[in-house]
Amino acid sequence: MKFFIDTANLEQIKEASELGILDGVTTNPSLMAKEGITGHDNIIKHYLDICDIVKGDVSAEVISTDFKGIVEEGEKLAALHPNIVVKVPMIKDGIKAISWFTKHGIRTNCTLVFSAGQAILAAKAGATYLSPFIGRVDDISWDGLELIHQISNIYGIQGYETQILAASIRNSLHIVKCAEAGAHVVTCPLSAILGLLKHPLTDIGLEQFLADHRKANASN
Ligand code: E4P
Repeated sequence: MKFFIDTANLEQIKEASELGILDGVTTNPSLMAKEGITGHDNIIKHYLDICDIVKGDVSAEVISTDFKGIVEEGEKLAALHPNIVVKVPMIKDGIKAISWFTKHGIRTNCTLVFSAGQAILAAKAGATYLSPFIGRVDDISWDGLELIHQISNIYGIQGYETQILAASIRNSLHIVKCAEAGAHVVTCPLSAILGLLKHPLTDIGLEQFLADHRKANASN
């Protein structure tokens, strides 16, 4: 399973990248706004800065919602860098645009996915990645992880090549459960990635090892 970080914060991207386990980055207009990245030129520069840090796929989201606008915007984004993947919303013109991008060799990430039916449509259109938002499904008291299981099962039966990119990850347990459910990728906040490190027995064990070493070597 690939690990992407879900942020537009360059420091966090660097920190995750330095762990040596980072395979890519996802952004969205809200994450860009959160970092204060506004205006066309600054947004484009920011994508290029991210591509300089991470040697993996970087999702750049279109803001158009009509077919012509999505295609024009997506073509420009894809031309920025070979690692850019065009992120397209799960709407009628979005599916039309994903089909067009597929025919023209442009890779896509179909975003804002909340159902298995939407996942089937995106796969039929040839999306490279599919982003089911599991945290937002949980937020309305449905089961986000069950959605990943269901899509994984359908894609396996049907032989679809679209990769399941579990998004809207809220915690480290989500990452473990997504791995069990067959997600190809998880895109996570840095805190959820770092949370995987934590276990009290690791801390207690390390403290003991170092104390024993200090004691045994005190007289040397
Ligand atoms: C996916 O690519 C989105 O950027 C993201 O995972 C949405 O997560 P949120 O529900 O925490 O906003």
